[in-house]
Amino acid sequence: MLAPLLFVWPLSIAVTHYFASSVATYPYDQALRENVNALARQIRFDKSGRSQIALPASARAMLRADEIDHVYFHVVNRKGVKLAGDSELRVAEDMAYQPDELGEIYFREAEVNGQDLRVAYAYVGDPSLPREKWLLVEVGETLEKRSQLSNKIIASVILPQFVIIPLAVVLVWFGLSQGLQPLTRLRERIEARAENDLSPIRTRRVPEELQPLIDAFNGMLERMRANLAAQHRFIADAAHQMRTPLTGLKTQAQLAMRESDPEQLKNSLRQIATSVDRAAHLVNQLLTLARAEASEQAQQALVPLDLDSVLRQQVEEWVVRALDRRIDLGYEPAPPSEILGNALLLRELISNLIDNALRYTPEGGRVTCRVVVQGDFVTLEIEDNGIGLSEEQAAMVFERFYRVDGTGVDGSGLGLAIVREIAELHRADASLRPNPAERGAIARVVFSRYQPMSADGAFDAQVEGELGVRNPPAGFV
Ligand SMILES: Nc1ncnc2c1ncn2[C@@H]1O[C@H](COP(=O)(O)OP(=O)(O)OP(=O)(O)O)[C@@H](O)[C@H]1O
Ligand SMILES: [Mg+2]
Repeated sequence: MLAPLLFVWPLSIAVTHYFASSVATYPYDQALRENVNALARQIRFDKSGRSQIALPASARAMLRADEIDHVYFHVVNRKGVKLAGDSELRVAEDMAYQPDELGEIYFREAEVNGQDLRVAYAYVGDPSLPREKWLLVEVGETLEKRSQLSNKIIASVILPQFVIIPLAVVLVWFGLSQGLQPLTRLRERIEARAENDLSPIRTRRVPEELQPLIDAFNGMLERMRANLAAQHRFIADAAHQMRTPLTGLKTQAQLAMRESDPEQLKNSLRQIATSVDRAAHLVNQLLTLARAEASEQAQQALVPLDLDSVLRQQVEEWVVRALDRRIDLGYEPAPPSEILGNALLLRELISNLIDNALRYTPEGGRVTCRVVVQGDFVTLEIEDNGIGLSEEQAAMVFERFYRVDGTGVDGSGLGLAIVREIAELHRADASLRPNPAERGAIARVVFSRYQPMSADGAFDAQVEGELGVRNPPAGFV
């Protein structure tokens, strides 16, 4: 606040100066006017137009009576010949062009002996006489009284400011530091917090204006806390999940070491290989999930791509495994339809869904993959006639490490968590529901359809039409 004050101060001095001088001019102009009138009254005209100037000594003395300023006066005729008065005072050079109404008093600035003068003048004459016979009466005075008065006015305005402004500064300073104290206390409270303290900031002694800010901040703290808790849970779960196959591995290895029968040893080694596979799969799934989450943070660029062609490639890759399990893996082609997506992550998503469908469908079953285009939406569907799941289970399967008990199938419980993560990255909605048509389940991921700006297309067509590329010439048909 000090900076604007310091800027306003000189401005106020300048403005005061301007008004003070115009105020100081007014009363002294009135006095000059009186003098001109008094002088004019001393001039008489006879019938023929001859003038007579009778200036008694007392009148001259009165004009000279000013103690502070020097007063000059003269009477001149239209030709500029001085008839009476002071020789120093000179007629204005452009006098001939100035207004010369009888009875009006005009003012001008002049200079005598290097001193500025304020001059009042009037024409004296008889209206019946021609203008050339009129006389010009001028009275001028130096500006000392005026500048003294205007200086007094300025001083009386400015001097109190020397007291008022520092006082205002002190008061504002005091008021602001007083007003900002709650803010300072709040800052100290936040600074004094422990590093891992994500509890909400108490709003009891917080100024009203800051309440919404603190509320928003507390909301963010709450989200951070939830996020951190989820991460902690995830790490704990992941460690627990890793420990199971590793402990199994160790046990199997210890057993194998005690084995002397080559056939039994082979068997143990086979089990070890399976456990290693399981652990590797778990690590892979964890890595995929971490990658999908990282992409979300980096807001990776999504590009327009044809979901159907990604699906077809993926189905081709799974055909052999489906044949192994004697499951009929089907693909229903769809018209090309684009979505904004990341091909790498979408392949991961599709592969997890097909993996589930094949795993939770007994031999001889059927899995069908398709893309359905409907209005603004492009839906990926993986349908199976396998063991299916209940509505309650369907509500939980996207949780990390959640697995339905008693399916008799191996897995880490991360596949659908990965699917959900990737779907969210694409602003798509993923679901797994009981298959309404028969036993089994149907997984759906609903994407928004990507439509390039249709306005551009319209514009292109119009330009081409104008150029005559599209339209055949008249009579062509
Ligand atoms: N097509 C399906 N039919 C029936 N149940 C399913 C199907 N897909 C998933 N589920 C159920 O949802 C659970 C979670 O699936 P998710 O893919 O997340 O984990 P997972 O398959 O057990 O392990 P991962 O895929 O990480 O190897 C599964 O354990 C299974 O019980
Ligand atoms: Mg799975």
